[in-house]
Amino acid sequence: MIDLVVANGTVVTPSGVEKADVVVAGERIVGLGSGAERAQASRVIDAEGRIVLPGGVDVHTHFLIGFMGQHSVYDFEKGTQAALRGGTTTIVDFALQRRGRGLLDGVKHRRVQADRHVATDYGLHLIVTDVNAATLAELPRVIDAGVTTIKCYMVYESEQLMVDDGALLDLMGAAGPLGMMVGVHAENAGIIDRRIAAAVRAGEIAPRFHALTRPPVAEAEAVARALVFAEDAGCAAYIFHLSLGVGVDLIAQARRRGVRAFGETCSHYLALDKRAYERADAYLYVMSPPLRAPADQEALWAGLRSGTLATVASDDASYSAEMKASGAASFHTIPNGVPGAEHRLPVLYTLGVAQGRLSLPELAEIFSTRPARLFGMAPQKGAIVAGADADLVVIDTDATKPIVAGDHFGPIGYSPYDGMQLSGWPVLTVRRGVVCADAGTVSASAGDGRFLHRSLPDTSITPGA
Ligand code: URP
Ligand code: ZN
Repeated sequence: MIDLVVANGTVVTPSGVEKADVVVAGERIVGLGSGAERAQASRVIDAEGRIVLPGGVDVHTHFLIGFMGQHSVYDFEKGTQAALRGGTTTIVDFALQRRGRGLLDGVKHRRVQADRHVATDYGLHLIVTDVNAATLAELPRVIDAGVTTIKCYMVYESEQLMVDDGALLDLMGAAGPLGMMVGVHAENAGIIDRRIAAAVRAGEIAPRFHALTRPPVAEAEAVARALVFAEDAGCAAYIFHLSLGVGVDLIAQARRRGVRAFGETCSHYLALDKRAYERADAYLYVMSPPLRAPADQEALWAGLRSGTLATVASDDASYSAEMKASGAASFHTIPNGVPGAEHRLPVLYTLGVAQGRLSLPELAEIFSTRPARLFGMAPQKGAIVAGADADLVVIDTDATKPIVAGDHFGPIGYSPYDGMQLSGWPVLTVRRGVVCADAGTVSASAGDGRFLHRSLPDTSITPGA
């Protein structure tokens, strides 16, 4: 029984790029076809002249979060619908352990918030904020619950998120032998907090001081420190939202010492740079780490090509233009974060493939395959292969059009990429064999997605794999 054939597209698989049909039965890919299956299929969608990629895997979203006194515009339904519109069929968001509470408590709470609301399939990382004997003893049960990766904040004590160095090292020491991976938000709290206090005392509170109080050294030092801890603990480490070229070097050096070290950058670090802080609306570009220099961008692309960076995630933390503006008078009260789930693919396609920095197979690796493997979701997710979930995105590379803030999914009111001319727009997104977005219209709704019980991270993905 064949339910769907996506016909005649240029299909990107782990074995290469070929003109073929993708044949789907139920929720799964049967394989590639050459036309014979069309007659038996319930539905045939013509992808002539289009590129067919595996559905995107975005391993860093923050839907339904409260941060710095504001609440994200996207809840799980709207955020995952925006992701589907952008060709992403799987996200990994975060459960939060509140201080004084257990780890599983945080996972259960987040599943209540997400399970009946997601439109994509989804997994969870666990943010650990309180490391003690009871927490560490709970880790095996966290793995049993399908949560195999952790995020620790090396900053944000004011939000009760930060873990200190001793706690981070102890956590890595316990999580490593279990096969978990510990990721970090790597910024040096001492440097940043001192600079913020000095800037505020001096009345230097315009949005551009956000970047000036979070200098490159603060990120680089924290990346290096986290990797040294991972080395000592024998734990796999992941650097979330890396913005600096020197960070790529630090990960590569750690790997040469035998550390299982991985990194991620985000669409905004590739597409935007610190000149955004000179704009009148600089408050819209406040995220942490901040935007950096153009030279960093080229180093990040090189890191993606070499495999030192595993993926480009969105770090979607969508606050509306009004919410961002409410803190504009004083940089340290602007909620940190930007939207990104919807535009990850056209940004990557345009700056990556169309501008000659990535091949199509590299795009598929970065957008889907590597994050699926590293985060324990392969072979179910991440590649167009027989037996995998039929998660597909069809993109149009002929048309180039600007991002228009008003077209953004949901009432965000701005896009950090506003006016940027992009191609590679998703025209069709299929999640587990079901068309979920077609020409920008999303048809999937709350509860259509499923929780992914993730395996342990596959840290055997090697540079260029
Ligand atoms: O500015 C950012 N990155 N906001 C989202 C929260 C985080 O740190 O990942
Ligand atoms: Zn972070």
